[in-house]
Amino acid sequence: MLENKRILLGITGSIAAYKSALLARELQRRGAEVRVVMSQAAIDFITPLTLATLTGHRVYSDFTENKDQGTWTNHVDLGLWADAFLIAPATAQTLSSMVQGSGDSFLLAVHLSSRCPVIVAPAMDLDMFTHPATQENLSTLAQRGVGIIEPESGPLASGLDGKGRMAEPEHIADWMEKWFRDAAPLSGRRVLITAGPTHEPIDAVRFIGNRSSGKMGYALAEAFIQLGADVLLISGPVQLNPPAGVHEFVKVETAQDMYDAAMARFEGCDVAVAAAAVADARPTTPSDRKLHKGELPAAIALEPTLDILAAWGKNKTPTQTVVGFALETDNGEASAKSKLERKQADFIVLNTTADEGAGFGTDTNRITIFEKNGDSHKFELKSKAKVAEDIVTTLLKRILS
Ligand code: CTP
Repeated sequence: MLENKRILLGITGSIAAYKSALLARELQRRGAEVRVVMSQAAIDFITPLTLATLTGHRVYSDFTENKDQGTWTNHVDLGLWADAFLIAPATAQTLSSMVQGSGDSFLLAVHLSSRCPVIVAPAMDLDMFTHPATQENLSTLAQRGVGIIEPESGPLASGLDGKGRMAEPEHIADWMEKWFRDAAPLSGRRVLITAGPTHEPIDAVRFIGNRSSGKMGYALAEAFIQLGADVLLISGPVQLNPPAGVHEFVKVETAQDMYDAAMARFEGCDVAVAAAAVADARPTTPSDRKLHKGELPAAIALEPTLDILAAWGKNKTPTQTVVGFALETDNGEASAKSKLERKQADFIVLNTTADEGAGFGTDTNRITIFEKNGDSHKFELKSKAKVAEDIVTTLLKRILS
């Protein structure tokens, strides 16, 4: 969930500031881009050089960049850049200044100008933490929508033992992940996706398959995960790793396995996307051992497989959205519209092999989305990741209505 998230890490003057280096590393390890703002007091505990080296970006602590040349640092830009401003550690003094709306340090000026959500991870001695002034400050900040990451209990720098230690970097990163997930537009929605080809056995070593790489279905899974959905991905045999953060990943071989897995998970899903290139037919009598050269039949008898998309379309409730794909070589629009109707889908995404850079195996795609209500949306040739975003954005209007 922290993939590509821009986190502005504010560090204030507490001994826990040494843990902020580990926190910056942990947030980056989970995919976030981290920039650091430090108060002057924080610099007594940990050097800006440490944080600049870890994050690969200069650290901000002063309004002016070069006093002789009169250049200044734009605190407003930093506030606008961030998806979240996380102040960890946040001292009792910082909490109080935030409540007052003070802007007398660079970090506090960023706090006042940030449009993104603000989160604090307090760190202080236990009596400072339980003091009514601190507790009132925390509840005022909470009422203003500031996220509070509760301190943890244990030995404190003062020698006392109790609640006040800044939460461990891993716990803060977990908290941030959950928070981004809960704030995401598709939080709590279940999305079922089929992807990749299926392999239909002829014998123990041979199969009928197709050239699907699974890239489009996997890119869609990632786009839905980014928006906070619980994604269930059912994949045929492909050379791709399961997307990070996938809720459930099921690997299957045959059309029948894919059908069984897809139908067992359909109930309770908000969206179901059939991105797989399912074999339309399978050998009627596959051999369970390898056939030798002389035994190979001159013709292989085939029987139809079950259509997953059509079964979803038939069984869906009014609140479920069903999406299919149509990969066509010719008559694209007519075929896509006929599939929309025949399979009772809500959307069909058309791509034509006639378009250069579109279709199986490529990293790009050019699509047109047809809706049940007759609307259609045409998009340019793009990377499959960008195409997935276009599809998800088009679906969002219906999912969230
Ligand atoms: N599909 C499916 N299960 C199948 C066959 C297809 O879920 N057994 C889905 C695909 O995932 C895709 C859509 O149906 O979303 C259209 O697939 P396509 O192969 O183009 O459709 P067919 O019904 O096989 O039509 P045709 O081969 O005649 O073009």
